[in-house]
Amino acid sequence: MATKEKTPVENAQLKDIISHAKEYGFVFPSSEIYDGLQAVYDYGQMGVELKNNLKNLWWKSMTQLHQNVVGIDAAIFMHPHTWKASGHVDSFNDPMIDNKDSKKRYRADVLIEEKAAQYEADGHYDKASELLVEMGRLLGAEELDAVRELIIREDIKCPISGTTNWTEVRQFNLMFSTQVGSVAEDSSTIYLRPETAQGIFVNFLNVQKTGRMKVPFGIAQIGKAFRNEIVARQFIFRMREFEQMEMQFFVRPGTEMEWYNQWKEARKKWHQAIGIPAESLRYHDHEKLAHYANAAVDIEFKFPFGFKEVEGIHSRTDFDLTQHQELSRKKMQYFDNDLNEDGKPYGNYIPYVVETSVGADRLFLMTLCSAYTEEEITEGDATKSRTFLKFHPALAPVKAAILPLTKKDGLPEKATEIFNSLRYDFNMIYEERDSIGKRYTRQDLIGTPFCIAVDHQTLEDNTVTVRDRDSREQVRMPIGELHSYIDKAVNFKSIFEKLA
Ligand code: GAP
Repeated sequence: MATKEKTPVENAQLKDIISHAKEYGFVFPSSEIYDGLQAVYDYGQMGVELKNNLKNLWWKSMTQLHQNVVGIDAAIFMHPHTWKASGHVDSFNDPMIDNKDSKKRYRADVLIEEKAAQYEADGHYDKASELLVEMGRLLGAEELDAVRELIIREDIKCPISGTTNWTEVRQFNLMFSTQVGSVAEDSSTIYLRPETAQGIFVNFLNVQKTGRMKVPFGIAQIGKAFRNEIVARQFIFRMREFEQMEMQFFVRPGTEMEWYNQWKEARKKWHQAIGIPAESLRYHDHEKLAHYANAAVDIEFKFPFGFKEVEGIHSRTDFDLTQHQELSRKKMQYFDNDLNEDGKPYGNYIPYVVETSVGADRLFLMTLCSAYTEEEITEGDATKSRTFLKFHPALAPVKAAILPLTKKDGLPEKATEIFNSLRYDFNMIYEERDSIGKRYTRQDLIGTPFCIAVDHQTLEDNTVTVRDRDSREQVRMPIGELHSYIDKAVNFKSIFEKLA
């Protein structure tokens, strides 16, 4: 019962975040004038800045902070054999089930996971974990009839029709396919990549040789991925077109668990460094391992709809490189001339891989949910509520707003001069319309950490007031100090130092 009472409030919060994202230019439904396209979204003028900041920060954290990690940018289209080798053609499936009364389609594993979450919320932790283990076993063994029986035995009802009138469970491949070639006879089927990782695997030796990389080393990439998700919901959490930020770390066989544990910790620390509270993050070990993994964990964030995956850390063994070697008949081996305990070179081997894989869009949603703040404030005798986005200043779309108090007396000219002196280094806004209070509110709503007001005193002594978004406190400072004041707060360095 406890979850039932909580759910509407939590979903109401997601609803507020979705409308805020739309109203202030963060995220729009795709092709909205045609009523949108399910599970596809566009980033607006504020959203793209936030997303780019997140992507840049991840890129630099991976490549600049690790001397043994380099980046690539592989094409979305890949030779179709890639997906045969990786196992995606045969096993990149979701088990789906339809309710015969509502005609609605669901992912069978999601229905069971939701039931387990309900057990957990009711304090039946053993029951919850037994159910998940059973589900993992049945799905791993491809016992789809038994998965259906489990759903019926657990009395899992369709949320729309309220019945347990279920079809059989079927596997549904998530890859989008299209044709290359000019005429039908010449064309052949290719896929839109469902993960960016394979672009890294097929380039493993190119990068290793041209970059003279020594194992252990990593290759990072940011790019679009596509999945024909059956259940598309929860805003940008599960999309059909999304962006991944993946890093494959190539290691000596037998050392993979050591690296897996290191990356697992490093990645959680990274999320905390960008301002996500520790209590909103947790690890979740996979019950059902993907076909390529010998260990896998999710880093989950407490979204308004519960703890859900933001990033996966997977120990992928030598599965992918071995598969590519077999299908392409090109050697994927690395010669390790470091000496082993017997004083002999480790020699030739196919490296093992530890992967970190985070969705840029989920990271965006986590950042937005975590930043979205409503508070009661007192102004004079009045109490009112204030909504603001408490982004880490390094991630905020706009770093500072320059606001002349009035549109006359030379204040706009002075404010423009300040704006021009800072705009090369920071993304800034200049605004002179409306009262200063309204302008502060507008900046709060898009999460601008600093509002710089230019008033008559500025003309006399070259000082301005700087209002802090979170505390609403104002300090007076010389114009000459603005650059270093803003830079200290918004520079990625403040985050990198926490990662050291
Ligand atoms: N290369 C491994 C891989 O792709 P995954 O767990 O399927 O693993 C990794 O995906 C991350 O990509 C997820 O943690 C999530 O952040 C993001 N992701 C996956 N599917 C997504 C979707 N449909 N919409 C948005 N993000 C998605």
